[in-house]
Amino acid sequence: MRIAHTLEELRAHLSAHQHPAFVPTMGNLHAGHLALVRQAKPFGDVTVASIFVNRLQFLPHEDFDSYPRTWERDCTLLADAGCDVLFAPSEKVLYPEPQTFKIQPTPALADLLEGQFRPGFFVGVATVVMKLFTCVFSEAKGKRTAFFGQKDYQQLMVIRRMVQQFALPIDVVGGPTQRDADGLALSSRNGYLSPAERAEAVQLSKTLQTLAAALRAGASDIPALEAQAMDSLRARGWAPDYLVARRRSDLLPPESADEPLVVLGAARLGSTRLIDNLEV
Ligand code: PAF
Repeated sequence: MRIAHTLEELRAHLSAHQHPAFVPTMGNLHAGHLALVRQAKPFGDVTVASIFVNRLQFLPHEDFDSYPRTWERDCTLLADAGCDVLFAPSEKVLYPEPQTFKIQPTPALADLLEGQFRPGFFVGVATVVMKLFTCVFSEAKGKRTAFFGQKDYQQLMVIRRMVQQFALPIDVVGGPTQRDADGLALSSRNGYLSPAERAEAVQLSKTLQTLAAALRAGASDIPALEAQAMDSLRARGWAPDYLVARRRSDLLPPESADEPLVVLGAARLGSTRLIDNLEV
């Protein structure tokens, strides 16, 4: 695996290739990221990953400074998963001057759910993803593909819309959420959990499963089901931000339970905020 810290190095490593398959990450990799790298391999003539902890998508009180940086381990894992080129720019390389031009995703999508509880998050995500796309795909000809985990359901929708609205010649592919044996969705932030919290953490996905099962069984009072889900997590000591059933098409509240739905949740356990979702 070749490593590029600068744009010049990245272009040199990619110059002989035409169809990059790209997996952007913030490092601290887990099996979900590695599954995306393996999924990406057949899509391109070079598999590229990036590691960049993007300050723009963290609120001032969030964990930018303490976000785990696990460089050596990440390099080994990526190389073993078949990554050909790793782009790991410093902040000076990616943001040589304050990034005052930003991507403003449509508020109708980006101000909901994650965007409501993490204002500005999707501006930061869309801006860095656009910039990473520019870096990785600038020399490409023909097919360009980028991979994102479905655990970040709303993020994936924002990126798909961005690609569509800017007519970027990039196919965006979602990778299925990877889970531990008990069902907890893999996340870089799971490492913050104490052993007791780790044992409890699976309740987020269990609560979403209960909500999804009720909808599949024909329950139609969605607000009541959502309130029950919130109460059941609160009773176990969680601080939920939201547990909702939304339309898959636009993440708005459904008019009926017959539309294609996704249940999504975000909740804090101790000081760790976890998210998960499940298509109904
Ligand atoms: O999902 C992530 O890890 C990040 O939001 C991303 C897409 C790499 C942008 O920083």
